[in-house]
Amino acid sequence: MKIPNIHIPIVEIPTEKNVKLFMKREDLIHPYISGNKFWKLFWNVNQYLEHRPQNSLIITFGGAFSNHISAVAAFGNLYGVKTLGIIRGEELEQKWIHNPTLLSAKRNEMNLKFVTREDYRHKDQLTFFLQQEFPEALIIPEGGTNHSAVKGVKMMLNEHTKDFDYLCTAVGTGGTVAGIAEFCEYGQKVIGFKVVQDDSLENRISELTTKNNYHLIDASLGGYGKLNEENVRFINDFKAKYNIPLDPVYTGKMMQNVFEMINEGYFPEGSKILCFHTGGLQGIEGANMLLEKQNKTVIV
Ligand SMILES: Cc1ncc(COP(=O)(O)O)c(C=O)c1O
Repeated sequence: MKIPNIHIPIVEIPTEKNVKLFMKREDLIHPYISGNKFWKLFWNVNQYLEHRPQNSLIITFGGAFSNHISAVAAFGNLYGVKTLGIIRGEELEQKWIHNPTLLSAKRNEMNLKFVTREDYRHKDQLTFFLQQEFPEALIIPEGGTNHSAVKGVKMMLNEHTKDFDYLCTAVGTGGTVAGIAEFCEYGQKVIGFKVVQDDSLENRISELTTKNNYHLIDASLGGYGKLNEENVRFINDFKAKYNIPLDPVYTGKMMQNVFEMINEGYFPEGSKILCFHTGGLQGIEGANMLLEKQNKTVIV
C-alpha cells in the first residue's frame, strides 16, 4: 500500500457561534479503502506483504454493514491478495446478495464465512483455529484495530493538524481515537464519539495508548447503529449546505453531536475544532435499503 498521492483538504464549516470548525477529508482517499480504514490497514498489510508468503491470505472480521470488511475486500482485489471475511450472523448466508456491503465484498472476490453471533463473540477462539488452518495468513482483528493500526493513524496528523484545540473522531473499535491521542500534540484535546455498543472499548483503548488526553462521549443519538429521521435530516442538510456527504453510522452522528455541543457552549469561545471525516460512505446504500423498506426518507 502506498501513501496516497492526493492532497487531503481541511475545510472550514461555518458555525453561528464563536468557534472555528473544520473537517479533514480523509474520506477522499478511496471510495472503499477510505479514511481511517486506509491508515489502519497501512502497516498491517505492508508488513505482511514485505515477506509475502506463497499462500498469502488476509482474514478479518465484521458485521453485515462493516466498512472495514468492505475496505479489506477492495484492498485484496486491488493488490491481488486473497481475502476471507468472517461475518457475524449465520442467517446472512442465505441473503448476502441483498446486502450492498457483502455484495461488493464478494465482487471484490472476498470469500465470506458466516458464523453465529455466539461464535463471533468468541473471536479469540476463532482466530486461534483460523491461524492453525491457515498458518500463512494475516489475521486482522475486527475494525482493523491493533497496534499497527494505531501506528498508521499517526499519518492522519501533520503540521496542518497541530494548531487545533480539539481533535474529534467517531469511535467504533477504538483504534482511531487511540492513534490520534497517542500521536497528537501536547495540549490538544481528543474527543471520541462512541457510536457503537462495545463494553470492551475503554480497556482496548487504554491498551493501545498510554495517553489520557482523550475523552469519550456517547454519540448514539437515538440508538447505537440506529438511524432515525432526525439523523437522516441532519446528514441531508449537511450535504446540502456544505457539499460534504456523511455516513449514517459514524461521521453523521459525530457531526450531529459536534453541532449540538457547539450550540450548548461545550467548546470555549475561540476554540479551533478539527473533525476527521473517516469515510464509510459505502454504508449509505445499505442504510437506504433499510429506510426504503420502512417507507422513510433516504440519505441523498
Ligand atoms: C467511517 C468510520 N468512522 C470511524 C470508525 C471508527 O474507527 P475505530 O474502529 O478505529 O474506532 C470506523 C470504523 O472503522 C468507520 O468505518
